[in-house]
Amino acid sequence: METIRSTRALQARADKLRQQGRRIGLVPTMGALHEGHLSLVDAARARADFVVVSIYVNPTQFNGAADLEAYPRTVEADLAACEAHGVDAVFLPSDEDLYPEGAETWVESTEISKPLEGASRPGHFRGVATVVSKLFLAAKPHVACFGEKDYQQLAVLKRMTRDLGFDIDVVGVPTVREADGLALSSRNVRLTPEARTEAVVVSRALDAAASAVAAGEFRVEALQHLVQTELDKSVLGELDYAEFRCAESLAPVTDVLDRPTLLALAVQFPSKDGDPVRLIDNRVLETSPS
Ligand code: PAJ
Repeated sequence: METIRSTRALQARADKLRQQGRRIGLVPTMGALHEGHLSLVDAARARADFVVVSIYVNPTQFNGAADLEAYPRTVEADLAACEAHGVDAVFLPSDEDLYPEGAETWVESTEISKPLEGASRPGHFRGVATVVSKLFLAAKPHVACFGEKDYQQLAVLKRMTRDLGFDIDVVGVPTVREADGLALSSRNVRLTPEARTEAVVVSRALDAAASAVAAGEFRVEALQHLVQTELDKSVLGELDYAEFRCAESLAPVTDVLDRPTLLALAVQFPSKDGDPVRLIDNRVLETSPS
């Protein structure tokens, strides 16, 4: 497995691969890799013959210095996991490389990044879109894989790719879950044991809504009530948002579900370190039989 540490070096490698007619697949990550990240590697492998994983804790997408500081960094274990998973190259850029002195150019979507996570984390998606643009320009991939777990991030990046004309196929990959349904996240390890047990209500609330829709319940108010009933089974969880939005545009869906609708949840739970852990999860509710 190759380890590449600068944009210039990765661009040179990508040029060579393209000359040889190879297909490059990119999996951007911030490290602390788990099975969810590795499923993206598998998805990239199925669509490309040279898989690059980038590991970079991007400072511009964090809302506070403490949050950035607290982010887990496990590079040695990550490299071993990539190697064991057949990754061809790992990109480990430095801050100075991705954000040269005086960097002042940003990539920002103006609408799709406003609600949900965008409302809770101002500037977050500007940081994500900017760094992913830089990673696209460095790795020159044919295909890039992102998790559906971060649904709005995937939507922002698909929109960015279309709007800016990046010649890259952006692929969404289904969420990998623990046996009880909790979506894998590098944040889960911070949950207190009690919070970890109760965190199952998040995916259960999504299941409850999906079952109701499958049984013909399309009224937002009734679905909202069902979701709340499931979430109320946890005493520790504190709801940040539970929203129904058009799966395509993320515009609010009020009244009745008349198109594929994203149900997005964010719930805070107590952590071992004192700062609450914010878990997000989502489900697309299909309104017509598939
Ligand atoms: P990170 O949180 O490390 O996630 C990297 C990728 O893994 C994202 O595409 C995310 O959606 C996906 N992922 C996380 N948990 C998953 C799960 N349980 N199942 C499937 N996929 C999962 O998201 C980021 O990093 C950053 O914002 C990044 C895109 C790298 C830009 O800095």
